Amino acid sequence: MKVVNVGGMEMWYEERGRGLPLVLVHGFPLDHTMWSEQMAPLADSNVGGGLRPIAPDLPGFGRSPASRDVATMEQFADDLAAALDALRIAEPVVVCGLSMGGYIALQFWRKHAARLRALILCDTRATADAPAVAASRLTDADRVLREGPGPLVESMLPRVFGATTHRERPHLVENVRGVMMANPPRGIAAAARGMAERPDMSTAAAEIRCPTLVIVGAEDTASTPAEVRRMAQSIPNAEFVEIPAAGHLCPLENPVAVNAAMMAFIAKHTK
Ligand code: MLT
Repeated sequence: MKVVNVGGMEMWYEERGRGLPLVLVHGFPLDHTMWSEQMAPLADSNVGGGLRPIAPDLPGFGRSPASRDVATMEQFADDLAAALDALRIAEPVVVCGLSMGGYIALQFWRKHAARLRALILCDTRATADAPAVAASRLTDADRVLREGPGPLVESMLPRVFGATTHRERPHLVENVRGVMMANPPRGIAAAARGMAERPDMSTAAAEIRCPTLVIVGAEDTASTPAEVRRMAQSIPNAEFVEIPAAGHLCPLENPVAVNAAMMAFIAKHTK
């Protein structure tokens, strides 16, 4: 992994390939390894004249230290823009975010639209949390700080994978349990609090003008295909792809289908 200094904070990231930068933003409470099945296939493809996938550990996850008590989606988006500056990437990039990564990608669009060539939103939503969901995130954050990530991780694991993965590839569940458990409680709590206060973007989504691909796992129970399709329909000209035999973490669960959808979309919009 490599490291870049972002406003005095270390942000660790993995990158591969050369060409159009593709920023892959992980979900909660994960790290850059969520995109391990995308890095080589996308970097080795010739799509768009060559792709350069960049998968950071967001501050407070993986190797990137936690330094905030509340980490808003807007701050994470600003961190990504600052990381691009530090890497001297001035050209517009593709930003792809899953779930919490999608909340961040929407903030990146809101704050840094001129830096965006295209948007890929996976298993995510534009709406804010309902008050009860926001309240439970604050309770979760306090509990993670008191007891560690265990109870939160065990409550999340059944719903972040689809039924097919639970049945046929339980090792994936074990791997992700390890990633979630290794994240620092302070980083997890800060992001949970930040998600609780994220703004509603469902009206603003109608203003998105850059090419947008929306992806959802057909077996996603955390952000259901019906809900994600509705978001796609609210974004002008957005393309929508449902990934078979996969749940909320479809890039890990069915990488062949996700990579094909991403490559077809990028190829079409970089002609
Ligand atoms: C994620 O995968 O990032 C989470 O499901 C996001 C959330 O809790 O809303």
